[in-house]
Amino acid sequence: MTLTLAPSLPARPTRPVGTDPLGVLGVPGQINLDYAASAPCARAAADAVAELLPWYASVHRGAGALSRRCTLAYERARQTVGDFVGARAGDHVIFTRNTTDALNLLARALPAGTTVVTFAGEHHANLLPWPRGSVRLPVPESPAGAVRALDAALGELRRDARPGLPVLVAVAGASNVTGERWPVAELARVARRHAARIVVDAAQLAPHAPVDLTALDVDYLALSGHKLYAPFGAGVLVGRSDWLDAAPPYLAGGGATGHVGAATHDVRWATGPARHEAGTPNLLGAVALAAVCAALGGADRDALHAREQRLLARLRTGLAALPHVVELRTFAPDAPRVGIVSFVVAGRDSAEVAAHLAGAHQIGVRDGLFCAHPLARRLLTEAAARSGRRDLPETALRASIGLGSTVAEVDRLVAALAELG
Ligand SMILES: Cc1ncc(COP(=O)(O)O)c(C=O)c1O
Repeated sequence: MTLTLAPSLPARPTRPVGTDPLGVLGVPGQINLDYAASAPCARAAADAVAELLPWYASVHRGAGALSRRCTLAYERARQTVGDFVGARAGDHVIFTRNTTDALNLLARALPAGTTVVTFAGEHHANLLPWPRGSVRLPVPESPAGAVRALDAALGELRRDARPGLPVLVAVAGASNVTGERWPVAELARVARRHAARIVVDAAQLAPHAPVDLTALDVDYLALSGHKLYAPFGAGVLVGRSDWLDAAPPYLAGGGATGHVGAATHDVRWATGPARHEAGTPNLLGAVALAAVCAALGGADRDALHAREQRLLARLRTGLAALPHVVELRTFAPDAPRVGIVSFVVAGRDSAEVAAHLAGAHQIGVRDGLFCAHPLARRLLTEAAARSGRRDLPETALRASIGLGSTVAEVDRLVAALAELG
């Protein structure tokens, strides 16, 4: 069969491999098209960790030179990550394990009586932590539909519910199933109009495009280092301090206290990020994440984005040319999206296809329902209806790209899938 593919891409202007901070580590011969699950490690992250390792010591717990350097590195990392996401003066930057941890932290910090409004298309991390009584809006058919639905839902909430109680809107910047971008700025405007707050799950958006709390007028943001080329176990929750300072500590223990008396409950908890960071922090994770944030902050992100979009277009065009492959999508085919594509191979079990790609072609993709079961199931049903095929499998495949992805890798995937027709 003949594939119609876009002309080849110009190479990303980089320093030689090994010194480009945004070059990624990998294993020759292995094609990683699963960035959305966990991106490969950026050189910047690996170098930052390697540089700090000889100095490795406690954070906020020691007077020695090593410890002081580590404390400084940790606090500088906090500043760098905050700057990267456009944190406002007074916002807290709290290191967590990942996005799931960050959203659970926020869920535990909500003032009593808060109603959380989400869409059913969210990742489980942005569906499951929210309290009972949360509102889950149906998956909209377009970004504009999402804005209208939120406006209507918040209007109704404000009319029906106790009007003074807090409302938090929780949305992803980009879907982990389809890569489609959500209209965050517009949703934030709607939230503001109804005196609601908004948190953005930036796990899938931040690796692909700048996300700025201030510019978007968003209250909170969560992201994961391991999806942002910094695989050392740190994530972050950034945002307004008042709810966070008023909430019970996420974890109780050392480092989160101002004063502990002799009586069992004689505790004054710290304010600021320390309140929610009890225990010895993940210094290397924080430093790795900050190193990537700094490297991305200094890069030409428009150029990186344009390159990724060309690669994505090539991948989608290649898949669209395969009659036995059906793409999953929520919005119109040309809706803005990041480098993620989910699809099915008609008549083939997705887990078997993924295993075949790995075994026969050394290509790593994801299969399943991508921790977004309600959305993935719905899109599989829609894909069957749209394509008119009755032989679509019950789970899907997902290919995702990023900084280290190449034309050759994308073409290898398309060629391998073509053989399954
Ligand atoms: C959109 C989105 N939100 C949240 C998460 C959870 O991220 P983590 O597993 O790093 O906590 C993911 C992970 O795939 C995701 O894609």
